Amino acid sequence: MLPKLSLALALLALSLQASARPLQQREASPGIIEDLLTGILTPITQLIKDVLSEAKSAIDDTKSSKPLTCSLLLLGSDRCCVWWDVSAELTKQFVQSDGQCNDNARAAVRMGFHDAGSWDNSSTNGGADGSLLMDFGEQNRAENNGLQSIRTLLRTVKSKYGVGYADLAQYAHNHATISCPKGPRVRTFVGRKDATQAAPNGLMPDVHDSADNLIALFQRKGFSAYDLAALVGAHSTSRQRFVDTTPAAANKPLDTTIGVWDVNFYNDTLNNPAGTNASQIVYVLPSDKVLSTHPLIKDEWKSFVGNQPDWNEDYATAYVRMSLLGVQNLGDLVDCTKTLPASRKQYP
Ligand code: HEM
Repeated sequence: MLPKLSLALALLALSLQASARPLQQREASPGIIEDLLTGILTPITQLIKDVLSEAKSAIDDTKSSKPLTCSLLLLGSDRCCVWWDVSAELTKQFVQSDGQCNDNARAAVRMGFHDAGSWDNSSTNGGADGSLLMDFGEQNRAENNGLQSIRTLLRTVKSKYGVGYADLAQYAHNHATISCPKGPRVRTFVGRKDATQAAPNGLMPDVHDSADNLIALFQRKGFSAYDLAALVGAHSTSRQRFVDTTPAAANKPLDTTIGVWDVNFYNDTLNNPAGTNASQIVYVLPSDKVLSTHPLIKDEWKSFVGNQPDWNEDYATAYVRMSLLGVQNLGDLVDCTKTLPASRKQYP
């Protein structure tokens, strides 16, 4: 009797173990980043916490050159080594001869957002996991139209340097913002895990949605209305191609100075009606227009007009959060901001 009972118990234990396995393999647990930043923190998790709570700046202008130890491939050399090489490559791809940033840089800014943004506080996967650069079919989702050529470019960079997809999507975003004159040098962390499946569908903003819905969507990702006002400022260096395909709107910039990361976007959006016409220089996205006049946002929106330092700081703080959405292994990350190009606060 006893041996039979112990056999039954052993089988039960085995089956419980088997049924627990899918849960153990889950890559992310729901909840916002702060949930992971409790208890005893390491220097890196403390830094992330300080940046997200604005105790420390999300901008770091300290640049350094690739040290010799990287080339000698010394044991224990800097985990950032390869990123100096990636940085040199991306500078060639993102900056045009007049020093302004180009279409690749714009697309890389959008790529970083679209890879990380497919996540909310109930997601068990998705976020900044490189899934959009990988082969899960996300490139065919309507919201990702226009990202095909930057995806191809970044996949080539990935193959050449052997870096992770998840890190590369975010590194390229941060490299692109600093590749635009006046852009912020956003703190740049690497060490994320790559995705094992496609990000959840339906978590990206719709350009025709109401401001209330857009604010609620971003709130579920951990962003305040104020953060959203700062984040959409990335449209300072943007074009539209697919919202309006009429000849008067083709490839129109969303800001009068498209190659420079400046605050003109905030003024341009306030001073022009949504859409465009033949005499209007910019195209104003319906989503930007409704956000700019929403009671929770309009004062912040106006406060960014003519205030580059505040916008850069607020964008960088919000984007550090974006670049870590869904990332569980925060303690494994390293800060490789030093590998980015120097900032250019004046232009021309
Ligand atoms: C309410 C939220 C947002 C909406 C509805 C939205 C929508 C759009 C749309 C419709 C376009 C034009 C696509 C095309 O026709 O080619 C666009 C472009 C762009 N968006 Fe957003 N966006 C939002 C937030 C953001 C955020 C948070 C970022 C970055 C952090 C961002 C970065 C960009 C960039 C860089 C482009 C230009 C891409 C290029 O010129 O290749 N957007 N966005």
